[in-house]
Amino acid sequence: MVANSFPEGFLWGGAVAAHQLEGAWQSGGKGVSVADVMTAGAHGVPREITDGVLPGKNYPNHDGIDFYGHYKEDVALFAEMGFKCFRTSIAWTRIFPNGDETEPNEAGLKFYDDLFDECLEYGIEPVVTLAHFEMPWHLVEEYGGFGNRKVIDFYLNFATTCFKRYQDKVKYWMTFNEIDNQADFNNDFAVMTNSGLKLGDNNEAAMYQAAHYELVASALAVKEGKKINPDFMIGAMINYTPFYPATSDPADILLAQRINQRRFWFSDVHAWGEYPKEVEAYLERKGFRSDFTAEDQVVLKEGTVDYIGFSYYQSMTVSAKNGDADHLISPADAVVDNPYLETSDWGWSVDPIGLRYGLNELTDRYHLPLFIVENGLGAVDQVEEDGSIHDPYRVDYLRKHLEEVKKAVTLDGVDLMGYTPWGCIDVVSAGTGQMSKRYGFIYVDKDDEGKGTLARSRKDSFFWYQNVIKTNGAELD
Ligand code: BG6
Repeated sequence: MVANSFPEGFLWGGAVAAHQLEGAWQSGGKGVSVADVMTAGAHGVPREITDGVLPGKNYPNHDGIDFYGHYKEDVALFAEMGFKCFRTSIAWTRIFPNGDETEPNEAGLKFYDDLFDECLEYGIEPVVTLAHFEMPWHLVEEYGGFGNRKVIDFYLNFATTCFKRYQDKVKYWMTFNEIDNQADFNNDFAVMTNSGLKLGDNNEAAMYQAAHYELVASALAVKEGKKINPDFMIGAMINYTPFYPATSDPADILLAQRINQRRFWFSDVHAWGEYPKEVEAYLERKGFRSDFTAEDQVVLKEGTVDYIGFSYYQSMTVSAKNGDADHLISPADAVVDNPYLETSDWGWSVDPIGLRYGLNELTDRYHLPLFIVENGLGAVDQVEEDGSIHDPYRVDYLRKHLEEVKKAVTLDGVDLMGYTPWGCIDVVSAGTGQMSKRYGFIYVDKDDEGKGTLARSRKDSFFWYQNVIKTNGAELD
């Protein structure tokens, strides 16, 4: 008989990132991060990346939802839902405000000690991303972000400081959030949040070099982390978006394969310790990533990851009508609508089967445990007069995805460590800077202008997810 529930010890939880919820951007000696210089945008209106913090601009991450001041209340709500784990990130600028200091900032370290202790009190395991779109702005200004090899050392100092300090509190780590976003190298948000690169004339070349340095930094961190605590599980973290061919025309199929290759190579290097052939050949042809040393080659092999963490929100579909496999400008140029899929209010396709497909794809490719560390629906919520929030659309989205996850685990043999839906409490949207794009089980009273009481309340989905966890996924309705 096929099991109906998830494996014992499955890590049910929720995910957030420091810069999207903590606020307190100048408390406890925190420095300015990349996220602190991003203004609020909207659907179709990109966030502006300003030259430092400018007066008169709206920077929604500065205040977030003040998790810094509310974390005890919020962790208690996570515990009430039955969380087994909680994924967050450590703001690099709380630990090293400028990024290039040699000694860490004690007040920043203390905040995460307190947060992790609070989680552990409830039996909630922290799952920690080291760099989640929040590199110190000083490293961008002074060094050109990861465009500069020196930044590897600064990252490593940050990583090892965290590993040492929290070695008895945190077992699950990820080195870089969605490192593959920058495959879309003409997207200034992606190259800034991943690598701290400002848009230039040759983004593509800069991206490949910077991403190489990040992969070396990640491998060094894995190596050092294992020395500090051999029980650590240190993973990659990618944005898994499958690209489907628009038709059975072989030109579409080859194009989709090419785009997938240009996204997968990041996790290929993380997991295999070497570059895949197609990307290697491309880099040589173009003369990109010229700084690749023999030592790098060894380090990449020695610092491979223990698992693949990934986010999954949507699939995309591409047509060779807009650019064939050998003349790809950027993946975004080839994207077309998929007539089989509906889209969210923010235009993201809704494709639960794509998640089962992805779990199989990643398993076949890497032969490693997987961890779904983000999944969810950004939607506008309505607060009723009595304060209740009915969000059946969110439950529907998550249920359909979990049904496919369950098939992957129980029928397809996928080794899945856990599931942490994104934005388990409403946070500032990374892509748009909006509060109104909500993912949470917990509503936070704050609007796009930054007004509101910050009061927390349980949505209907809160109780649905509580039951999912209680039944270890046996009951998804
Ligand atoms: C992922 C990021 O890309 O998607 C998160 O890791 C982000 O930081 C999430 O918030 C959802 O995207 P958005 O733009 O709706 O906030």
